[in-house]
Amino acid sequence: MIKVLFVCLGNICRSPMAEFMMKNAVQKRGVEKNFYIDSAATSYEEIGNGIHFGTRKKLEEVGIPYTEHKARRLMPSDYEEYDYIIGMEESNIRNIKRIVGEDREHKIYRLLDFSQKPRDIADPWYTGNFNETYNDIQEGLEGFLKYLEK
Ligand code: 4NP
Repeated sequence: MIKVLFVCLGNICRSPMAEFMMKNAVQKRGVEKNFYIDSAATSYEEIGNGIHFGTRKKLEEVGIPYTEHKARRLMPSDYEEYDYIIGMEESNIRNIKRIVGEDREHKIYRLLDFSQKPRDIADPWYTGNFNETYNDIQEGLEGFLKYLEK
């Protein structure tokens, strides 16, 4: 079982989008039983809240199902629980390390570091551009799945 935790600032826009896109991708490949996938926030801003409308609208547009979601904060114990803790941008990585401590087992990654063009995924909470978020996450997930296949 491979356990993957996607992390962003609020856990309402980017990390739930990545969570449900990855769940859909592994289901399409018929390997969903091998994965446990979740998402979490580094901030307390949106704790308990559902997925942002922009993320829901984009997922619906592309036909990716999602289930009930309540934003939750990353906990120090998540470090032991998960195999991959994947942030969306460099500031997420810093905040993740602040919460879980030193990355002793090299579990912390930035999603687009799995792509050919390593970079941050901009926060659609500020940009309003959920299409760009989707395309960036898609690119990162393709790279991550290729990495896992190796
Ligand atoms: P996310 O977007 O990190 O992609 O979920 C944000 C959502 C809410 C806030 C910041 C970013 N906020 O400050 O409330």
